[in-house]
Amino acid sequence: MGSRRASIAFSISLMLIILTISDGNAIDTIDMAVPIRDGETLLSSGGKFELGFFTPGSSNHRYVGIWYKKISLLTVVWVANREIPLVDSSGVLKITDPGILSLINGNGHVIWSTNSSRSTWVKNPVAQLLDSGNLVVREKNDENPENFVWQSFDHPSDIRLPGVKLGWDLVTGIDSYLTSWESSDDPSPGRYNYGIDRHGYPQLFITTGSVVQYRFGPWNGVRFSGIPGMKANQIYRPWFVFNQNQTYFTYELLSSVICHAVLTQYGQEQRVIWNNLTQEWDIYLAAPADTCDTYAVCGAFGSRNIANSPGCGCLKGFTPKSPKVWNSGNWSDGCIRLTQLDCKTGDGFIKHSNVKLPDTRHSWYNTSMTLNECEKLCLQDCNCTAYSNLDVRGGGSGCLLWFGDLIDIREFADFGQDLYVRMASSELAGKKHSWITVSTALTAVVLLSIAITLYFKKKRKKEECSIIDNGKEESEFLLLDFTIIAQATGNFSDDNMLGEGGFGPVYKGILKGGQEIAVKRLSKESAQGLDEFKNEITCIAKLQHRNLVKLLGYCIQAEERMLIYEYMPNKSLDHFIFDQSMPLDWPKRFHILNGIARGILYLHQDSRLRIVHRDLKASNILLDHDLNPKISDFGMARCFDGNEFEAKTRRVVGTYGYMSPEYAIDGIFSIKSDVFSFGVLVLEIVSGKKNMRFQHPDHHHNLLGHAWRLYKTGESLKLIDSSINLLNNTSQILRSIHIGLLCVQHFPEDRPSMSAMVVMLSSDSELPQPKQPGFFIPRNLWQVHSVSSKAESVNEMTTTLVVGR
Ligand SMILES: *[C@@H]1O[C@H](CO)[C@@H](O)[C@H](O)[C@H]1NC(C)=O
Ligand SMILES: *[C@@H]1O[C@H](CO)[C@@H](O)[C@H](O)[C@H]1NC(C)=O
Ligand SMILES: *[C@@H]1O[C@H](CO)[C@@H](O)[C@H](O)[C@H]1NC(C)=O
Ligand SMILES: *[C@@H]1O[C@H](CO)[C@@H](O)[C@H](O)[C@H]1NC(C)=O
Ligand SMILES: *[C@@H]1O[C@H](CO)[C@@H](O)[C@H](O)[C@H]1NC(C)=O
Ligand SMILES: *[C@@H]1O[C@H](CO)[C@@H](O)[C@H](O)[C@H]1NC(C)=O
Repeated sequence: MGSRRASIAFSISLMLIILTISDGNAIDTIDMAVPIRDGETLLSSGGKFELGFFTPGSSNHRYVGIWYKKISLLTVVWVANREIPLVDSSGVLKITDPGILSLINGNGHVIWSTNSSRSTWVKNPVAQLLDSGNLVVREKNDENPENFVWQSFDHPSDIRLPGVKLGWDLVTGIDSYLTSWESSDDPSPGRYNYGIDRHGYPQLFITTGSVVQYRFGPWNGVRFSGIPGMKANQIYRPWFVFNQNQTYFTYELLSSVICHAVLTQYGQEQRVIWNNLTQEWDIYLAAPADTCDTYAVCGAFGSRNIANSPGCGCLKGFTPKSPKVWNSGNWSDGCIRLTQLDCKTGDGFIKHSNVKLPDTRHSWYNTSMTLNECEKLCLQDCNCTAYSNLDVRGGGSGCLLWFGDLIDIREFADFGQDLYVRMASSELAGKKHSWITVSTALTAVVLLSIAITLYFKKKRKKEECSIIDNGKEESEFLLLDFTIIAQATGNFSDDNMLGEGGFGPVYKGILKGGQEIAVKRLSKESAQGLDEFKNEITCIAKLQHRNLVKLLGYCIQAEERMLIYEYMPNKSLDHFIFDQSMPLDWPKRFHILNGIARGILYLHQDSRLRIVHRDLKASNILLDHDLNPKISDFGMARCFDGNEFEAKTRRVVGTYGYMSPEYAIDGIFSIKSDVFSFGVLVLEIVSGKKNMRFQHPDHHHNLLGHAWRLYKTGESLKLIDSSINLLNNTSQILRSIHIGLLCVQHFPEDRPSMSAMVVMLSSDSELPQPKQPGFFIPRNLWQVHSVSSKAESVNEMTTTLVVGR
């Protein structure tokens, strides 16, 4: 009787245990009494991650790992026994005194375990799977992260989850880095590592053994110098910590999307985001991105840019060391100086803009020096070959010095950094080595004379800051003084910075009366900025339209040049259409699209001048409180008068992805090149995708090509952003796509005018059939083709002279 009762009690408790385990949701913790066996799992408290035994791909081995619970594709974010797999399902994961988590196989052998000097302190250890995906070993009653005995975040596999700190902690002795899987079937450590090298100024590297494959470039306060695509966003916030105890890179999620970074078995870091619609991981950033990113591919003092790709170029003032080998396509020997440095007679520096800073493993740095002090210090040391700012925020700060060869430089179209390379004085003033240098010098002279003219004009007026000189309408503009602007923006504090434009940072300010303003402060180094500055003032001062951002005033004082605009609380359009986290419904998008069209129409024919904007793009469309669009950034705009309709320039400025073929290739621009850009905007607004960044698994076309293909096969619905509710909107959306395609037609004469477009958008009139869009050839082809014809303008834009003293 007694034994029977006991056995019933036993089976009930067994059932309870089985229920608890098979229910799964119940436990996220194992303690010394209850281990987990193959088939059982831990589930994090919020249900995001699961820990258990799994078999990767077609392998027949068993591993203990952590994976996402809520997505359909098994994505293992961490593996315990990477090196020694279990050969059957007899594995047990248990925690033992004094706080060691061990994986034991069928023969009772420990095949994997955690190991920490701190485990001796733990009396009652538990292992818990946190909702961040972190598996931690801790004292049962102590949830303070500082006291964790061990955590999987310190020992990542090939995936960097939000919160993982990649790098060094000199106090705990932890060096955490990623190691790729051997293959998709085999999580054992593969060929590639991804971590921080602390030599010189710390940098992130992808390496194979001791060979560097890819370098991310030093952190500049905002991003890695080698990844211009990495910028402030609403999905995650990255940051870099570098002090005497710690050097690490990490990021936190700002939204509820599922995303992480993975080091693939082929040595590429991919930042991916889960697409709930396609049930796939979407890659939004990859590094290395292309062959230009291969470490040191161009040798010492060599560089790659969009103009010389797929080949290499030498920095200005340098020439290939072994021309024969170089011309055969082996650039590893790099370049040498045309004129040797002569420390005694005084050298100077050439400024290279928009570069990925060279390898800093042998660099010296100081976080508090200014750029001027940095230059002086470099000149004092005959071995110093280059300098730059350490941090680009707030106009730049800190000092980074290079000695000897400059390795692994790359030039970008934008978002790169300024690098000052030491040159013999004769290279700066006297001898010219090509007409490019001459033209650069000429540009400098022209800019200088404009600067002098402006300066003396200002002096005569005895007025530091000015209102717009706009004749009778003068009273409509605000009279603003430099000190008032400084006050309004909290002395241009970082907290008030709204963003970074092409020519400098933009700040938010509040005037005494409470009026909010946006202040564009042109960076002092930006020589070509002055030209655009004058242009913007003369061009926009006379414009008044509710779809154009309003210029309130401007300011020139010594080196300071500022434009003061009305403040737009909702930032720019790109924040909305390319960001899944705050989708706009269709009526809003259509309203925006119409507003932009009316703004452009005003520029093209309703204002007193005929104006071609030349740089229409999503980030130049600002949104006010009610999401009314306002076109901004008139730095590139060209005013035509009378009957002039078309112009040609040698200096192509604008943004890839929005430029029409005739402008990008031949430098010809007209109101029809704006129409082209508008068409790109329409397709981006409908699809929620960026033209330039667009990728499709089935073909190599950009967004325009993709839209065209879908249109031809009657599948235009597939282009529409998944977050748009089609209800009652379908015909208007399809019509918008049709209009977008009419705008991006290859030949300017085929594209409708803005006035025709405004009518098309607001009526049901029959639309003509669009012809093939511009750039309807694989992207790689047109890049090489179009860019070669304007190599000189790329150089002209990115290189300016700085003479040493
Ligand atoms: C790790 O375990 C080994 C063997 O058990 C031991 O000798 C070593 O001291 C441990 N390391 C730490 C940091 O506790
Ligand atoms: C570095 O660690 C030491 C000893 O743990 C501590 O005293 C110091 O404050 C730490 N410094 C920083 C910058 O965290
Ligand atoms: C994915 O979409 C489905 C259906 O819209 C929804 O129920 C589910 O919660 C979504 N999953 C995630 C992880 O967002
Ligand atoms: C390139 O040239 C260097 C030196 O001239 C040589 O060592 C190297 O093997 C060459 N690389 C290739 C791929 O030919
Ligand atoms: C960095 O520069 C500042 C200002 O010039 C100086 O006071 C400081 O000593 C420097 N620090 C180092 C480590 O050289
Ligand atoms: C410059 O570099 C050379 C060779 O590396 C070295 O011998 C010399 O001492 C260095 N000079 C200075 C001033 O650091």
